[in-house]
Amino acid sequence: MKALNRLALAVSLSCAALAAPLTAHAGEVEVLHWWTSGGEARAVDVLKQLMQKQGDTWKDFAVAGGAGEAAMTVLKTRAVSGNPPSAAQLKGPDIQEWASMGFLANISDIAKQGNWDTILPKRVAQTMQHDGEYVAVPAGIHRINWLWINPAVFKKAGAKVPTTLDEFFEAADKLKAAGVVPLAHGGQNWQDGTIFESLVMAIMGPEGYDKVFVQTDADTIRSDKMVEVFKTFKRIKGYVDPNAAGRDWNLATAMVIEGKAGMQIMGDWAKAEFTAAGKKPGVDYECVVMPGTQGDFIYNIDSLAMFKIKNKDNQKAQDDLVRTVIDKPFQEVFNLNKGSIPVRNDIDLAKFDSCAQQSAKDFQAANAEGKAEPSMAHSMANTSYVQGAIFDVVTNFFNDANADPKKATEQLVAAIQAAK
Ligand code: BGC
Repeated sequence: MKALNRLALAVSLSCAALAAPLTAHAGEVEVLHWWTSGGEARAVDVLKQLMQKQGDTWKDFAVAGGAGEAAMTVLKTRAVSGNPPSAAQLKGPDIQEWASMGFLANISDIAKQGNWDTILPKRVAQTMQHDGEYVAVPAGIHRINWLWINPAVFKKAGAKVPTTLDEFFEAADKLKAAGVVPLAHGGQNWQDGTIFESLVMAIMGPEGYDKVFVQTDADTIRSDKMVEVFKTFKRIKGYVDPNAAGRDWNLATAMVIEGKAGMQIMGDWAKAEFTAAGKKPGVDYECVVMPGTQGDFIYNIDSLAMFKIKNKDNQKAQDDLVRTVIDKPFQEVFNLNKGSIPVRNDIDLAKFDSCAQQSAKDFQAANAEGKAEPSMAHSMANTSYVQGAIFDVVTNFFNDANADPKKATEQLVAAIQAAK
């Protein structure tokens, strides 16, 4: 009897073991990202919920740090030790780099079923591919060249919403005189780079921007126009508060939300902070195209690249992730929360605010007119090595009161050359 019981127990246990893989339809997705601010966390939570609804397990791999430099360092360690996450937020040429080293999974079958070639703007589709195969799924499109304004602070200071760089400095002077911080900023290399690239766009236009950041053309970088960019950049420093060093971007946004500062130059993930704080565009804040860059669009596409993983259930979950990210419900809710616009061209934008609607309209027009350019500061324009070289020169210049604009252009040429 005892023996029989033991046998029965053994049989039922092994049946349970056999049944487990059949009933466990779900796998796990581990997703590396750096979406940790209030607005970003709300956005990534949408993805987590949608994955969990399908029975998949979400393993959050969040590495804080705006623009993802810290996240990229952690990703390298994990991938090199043979244990990559299922997916990671990778962007632009970094996607190509990881794919060419053999780390990324081919998701072209899913892309084909989902008609990605038709529903995605060409520029977006190309960025997601390596050697003609899809290896990443796009989540949303951010615009960098925005200026965020607190209208109540402007009103109190008697300042006018600027449309040109001259007007920007006029407004900054009025804000300063009124005793508020004119420009909320965080002294981190990518934030310095974000202002810098907006100035390059304003002063040199899309063609010049492309020559500087994409083609890294030495003659264009040595030009008088570039000297003007550095001079203007230096002038901007005079409107940033002394506590800016190391400040996170979302804390700078909070200064505008709370009326401690009048403006911030930042991509539209800043809008997600206003949204999370219950603020409305056109009422509590204004999204204004960076003065001097009207019609131009510095774009930053958020995307998740899929890594080669071995576990079959997790591969299935990874496929679920790809389908979920490109699906209309995710595209709508994620981008509403993230401040970006959907990547698909077949999404009704009725629920989106005026900033997003303008962004979508401007992106389309800028694409058609050759005025859309990839963000250098957000890893869309060049390799991480070239980006690092540009950051070094730009940040050192910003922090050195005695730095010479003309010399800086030469330093930029030399640094880029060494990094190539
Ligand atoms: C990313 C955004 C993110 C921002 C701030 C950018 O590089 O593309 O998704 O919100 O950095 O961390």
